[in-house]
Amino acid sequence: MAPHLIIALDFHDAGAALRTVKSIGDAGVFYKVGLELFISGGYKILPKLTGMGKKVFLDLKIHDIPNTAAKAALSSLDYGADIINLHTQGGREMMMRSAEALTEICAKKGIPKPLLIGVTLLTSLDEGYLREYKVSCASSDDYVLHLAGMAKEAGLDGVVSSARETVAIKNALGKDFITITPGVRLTGSDNHDQKRVVTPEDAARIGTDYIVMGRPITGSDNPKEVTQKVLAALQYNKTL
Ligand code: C5P
Repeated sequence: MAPHLIIALDFHDAGAALRTVKSIGDAGVFYKVGLELFISGGYKILPKLTGMGKKVFLDLKIHDIPNTAAKAALSSLDYGADIINLHTQGGREMMMRSAEALTEICAKKGIPKPLLIGVTLLTSLDEGYLREYKVSCASSDDYVLHLAGMAKEAGLDGVVSSARETVAIKNALGKDFITITPGVRLTGSDNHDQKRVVTPEDAARIGTDYIVMGRPITGSDNPKEVTQKVLAALQYNKTL
């Protein structure tokens, strides 16, 4: 199956975010609401998004003591989020308690459990971080794989993973362990500050489940047209 496209709404202004969603229309299904938009009042657009039939990835990267993290994860149910995430570096118990709480409460309420996704090592960090924080893994790839393995053991559904790590994660942890891949660009488009980018065709080929793309869509003159181009490119595998 082709990866799903998640459009990142990295806006400060909820009105502008909503106008963009409307302009994309039926082509856009999954939207990511992150810290900037959420803190600046964007939480108000969450019921509007779900009311429009959109699916929401609430990208708040929870990281706290197990009790607080699990309760924050449960609070995301109020927004009808389909995907939520937490930092795998917050500890095994934090991950387990959050996963268990979501499973239990969703079963009790008879509602679908949001996918619980782990953030491993932020792509802004590298081997320098491992040295500075005295992490003994030889490389950042090893560390990411280790954190992804812990996430799976703790009951998470998948991880955010750069294209560089996705194949190793799928090989080690199984195809059903979900990967969400940012840093995707159409051929010839601006990379912005993304250092290593892959095309939607590459993302489909490596078998990731979701891609996240923001500025190439939301910053374009015609977000709907770019969305349609990305969706067509994601069908790459089917045309082989
Ligand atoms: O605009 P662009 O396509 O670069 O947006 C990518 C989105 O994915 C942003 O919301 C960014 O915060 C997020 N992201 C990322 N790299 C990660 C984790 C999240 O680009 N490692």
